[in-house]
Amino acid sequence: MNELTPKQIVAELDRYIIGQGEAKRKVAIALRNRWRRQQMPDEMRDDVTPKNIIMIGSTGVGKTEIARRLSKLVRAPFVKVEASKFTEVGYVGRDCESMIRDLTEIAVTLVRDEMKKSHIETARANTENRLLDLLLPPQPKQPERIFNPMDPSSGDEGPAISSEEPSAEERTREMLRKKLLAGEMDDKEIDVTVRDTGQMTTMNMFGNQGMEEMGINFQEMMGKMMPNKSKSKKLKIKDARTVLEQEELDNLLDMDKVVEEAVHRTENSGIVFLDEIDKIASGSGKGGGPDVSREGVQRDILPIVEGSTVTTKYGPVKTDHILFVAAGAFHIAKVSDLIPELQGRFPIRVQLDSLREEDFARILREPKNSLIRQYTGMLATEGVVLDVQDEAIDEMARICREINDETENIGARRLHTIMEYLLEDISFEAPDMQGETVVIDKAIVNERLTTIIEKRDLGKFVL
Ligand SMILES: Nc1ncnc2c1ncn2[C@@H]1O[C@H](COP(=O)(O)OP(=O)(O)OP(=O)(O)O)[C@@H](O)[C@H]1O
Ligand SMILES: [Mg+2]
Repeated sequence: MNELTPKQIVAELDRYIIGQGEAKRKVAIALRNRWRRQQMPDEMRDDVTPKNIIMIGSTGVGKTEIARRLSKLVRAPFVKVEASKFTEVGYVGRDCESMIRDLTEIAVTLVRDEMKKSHIETARANTENRLLDLLLPPQPKQPERIFNPMDPSSGDEGPAISSEEPSAEERTREMLRKKLLAGEMDDKEIDVTVRDTGQMTTMNMFGNQGMEEMGINFQEMMGKMMPNKSKSKKLKIKDARTVLEQEELDNLLDMDKVVEEAVHRTENSGIVFLDEIDKIASGSGKGGGPDVSREGVQRDILPIVEGSTVTTKYGPVKTDHILFVAAGAFHIAKVSDLIPELQGRFPIRVQLDSLREEDFARILREPKNSLIRQYTGMLATEGVVLDVQDEAIDEMARICREINDETENIGARRLHTIMEYLLEDISFEAPDMQGETVVIDKAIVNERLTTIIEKRDLGKFVL
């Protein structure tokens, strides 16, 4: 369970996202509330429903970024879906419940990985034994000496070997084990019999969408109908170890337990991030065409947000306590264009701030994986040192704001285009520049970018 306090969550988000304090706070509180609810006595717990959130903010201000960072932060099952995809041609009929199925699937993976971790020691030990068996197949045990009066040679065997002393075979085995553990034999090739999973992927091609709706796990069904195939493969010991370890882990795993825990976690701490929710709000209320399908999607989403039971291949999943965080730019449509019932399910609204010039500069400088750090790291792989000076960063921020004001405001996304354009030549030449240091100062930024801005029309297309 996620035990981070709201302060800790905000602090963690602060490392990647500049500003948007309000949104961070609200999300952090909502997350903590999940944990609080879990601590409550049973009879109250059921009545505490999550307070779903809508984040409103123009494009490129960090809505999706908050979701992305959040998902890495919480160890809860987390899925991000674009609400707009449910209206897409070709997706018609792809029911909204699939988001809960995806969430459950993610929970299963999460829990499975956790449980695997707890078995890793045993699996490692088993794997070493199996490798030893492969290297030195165990000798069949000495036949038991039963005196057989009909066998003329019976009773002629030599003296029984004392079982106290380790046999020659056991000693070799121990010696091999030491070598194996020391990794001395990693490159030796051996024949391994591994489970053949190849055929299952062809099954996947048919997709099991429809089947899943009926609560049938097509893959599992087919898997049970067909005997477990295995095939022999020549592998280096170090690769064989990885394969066998996975197999051992799978054997040790109690899937029923995994599923039970995964469903529990989905129901009680699952989070669905509904991105682009404004795209399913029907514009000015004119009927016809896509609006109908948008409203249809809202009506499909409603029961899920409200609390219903979705059939998944892992069994029924109740959505009552799943937290929904929606986000949208709401440029054209307004929150009030959503059907009222759905609006009512998102009691918490938060407006994200538009980014200012200072914010752009901070976005370039501060986040743990800021754009500048990314480019510096990328060029470092070519042996080129990138030195972006402070004044250059300020200048980029200024230009970013300027273009955003004058053309279209795409928020911090503009920084990506600016950086890419600024460093294009260096990115191209880098392999021939090993050992060099490239200094980016204000003058270079200006030289490279201002000319573009001056030819406004061009700027529209290039940056
Ligand atoms: N406040 C911020 N702090 C740091 N980086 C940001 C911030 N806002 C945006 N970015 C950067 O800009 C990019 C785009 O942001 P994001 O995907 O969150 O936009 P969005 O708000 O979801 O926009 P849209 O409505 O178009 O989906 C991200 O990759 C991120 O690096
Ligand atoms: Mg987004």
